[in-house]
Amino acid sequence: MSFANRIDAAIADAIRSGQVAPSPAKLASALHYTVTPGGARIRPSILMSVAAACGDPNPKLTDAAATALELIHCASLVHDDLPCFDDADTRRGKPSVHRAFGEPLAVLTGDSLIVMAFEVLARAAPENPLAAANLTLLLAKRTGMPNGICAGQGWESEGDIDLSAYHRAKTGALFMAATQMGAVAAGEDAEPWEELGARIGEAFQVADDLRDALYDEEALGKPVGQDDLHGRPNAVTELGVEGAIGRMKDILSGAIASIPKCPGEAALAKLVTAQAEVLTPIKWRASQRMTPGE
Ligand code: IPE
Ligand code: IPE
Ligand code: MG
Ligand code: MG
Repeated sequence: MSFANRIDAAIADAIRSGQVAPSPAKLASALHYTVTPGGARIRPSILMSVAAACGDPNPKLTDAAATALELIHCASLVHDDLPCFDDADTRRGKPSVHRAFGEPLAVLTGDSLIVMAFEVLARAAPENPLAAANLTLLLAKRTGMPNGICAGQGWESEGDIDLSAYHRAKTGALFMAATQMGAVAAGEDAEPWEELGARIGEAFQVADDLRDALYDEEALGKPVGQDDLHGRPNAVTELGVEGAIGRMKDILSGAIASIPKCPGEAALAKLVTAQAEVLTPIKWRASQRMTPGE
C-alpha cells in the first residue's frame, strides 16, 4: 500500500472510532469534515519515509504514529482558524470548521482530535510498549508547552517575538515530530533525527510565508495576506521575497547533510531534494535569478 493510502486508511479508522453511538451527530460529522479530504499530509508522509529508511519493522506502530501526528496537525488548523486566532473563513478550499459547524463545535473538534491522537498511540502500545511510550512523549513535547505548537501560537500574544523561536515552535515542532517519530516507530533513537525535522520545518514555514505573500486565496484554498493583516512577524517582511527564498535554500541545503546514517539514506536524500523543489517553485527561482545580488 502507498504511504498516502496507509495514512488515509489509518486516519479513517481513528475517526470512525470516535463516531460510534451514542456520539453527538454534528460533532461526529465535524471530525470527518476536518480530516477528509486531507491536505498534503506532508508530516505523516515524512514520518513514514523516515521509518521506511530505517527498515520499518513494525508498520502498525508506524501507521499509529503517522495518524496521531496528522490528527494533531488537523486539530491545530481548526483552532488556528477560529475567530480568536486567525479568523479564517476557508481551509483546504472549503469553509473552515467553525464556519461550517459553528465555534463551539470547532473548539470541540480540535479538542477531540488532540485526545484521539494520544488514544491512537495508546492503542498501539501492545505492538511495542516502550516505543509507544516514547512516541507519546515525543508527540506531547512537540504539541504543548514550552516548545510545541501551543507555544508557537502563544508567541502571537507576546509583544516581542523572536521569529526563529516562533517558527520553530509553531511549525518546526511537528516536522521534528515527523522525523523523530518515524525513527522511534522503527526502533531507532530519536535524537539524531531532530535536525532534519527542524530544517524541513523551518523551510516549510518560510515557504508558507512566501505563499501567503505571493499567492491568491483560490490557489491556496485558504485566506492569503494573513501575516500582514494580523501584523505577524514573517520571513517576507523580515527578509524580503528574495531574502526569504535565499534563506529557504540555505536551510534545505543543510537538511540533506543532516540525514543520519541508515539503510535508506540515499532514498531519503532524494526525497528531501524533491521536497525542496516543491517548496521552491520554478517561478520563485526564476524571479531570484532575475534579481541577482538582492
Ligand atoms: C499549514 O500546513 C499550516 C502551517 C504550518 C503553515 P499544511 O500546508 O501542511 O496544511 P495541509 O495539511 O496541507 O492543509
Ligand atoms: C498555522 O500557522 C500553524 C498552526 C496551526 C500551529 P499559520 O496561521 O501561519 O498557517 P495557515 O496560513 O493558517 O495555514
Ligand atoms: Mg496562525
Ligand atoms: Mg492561520
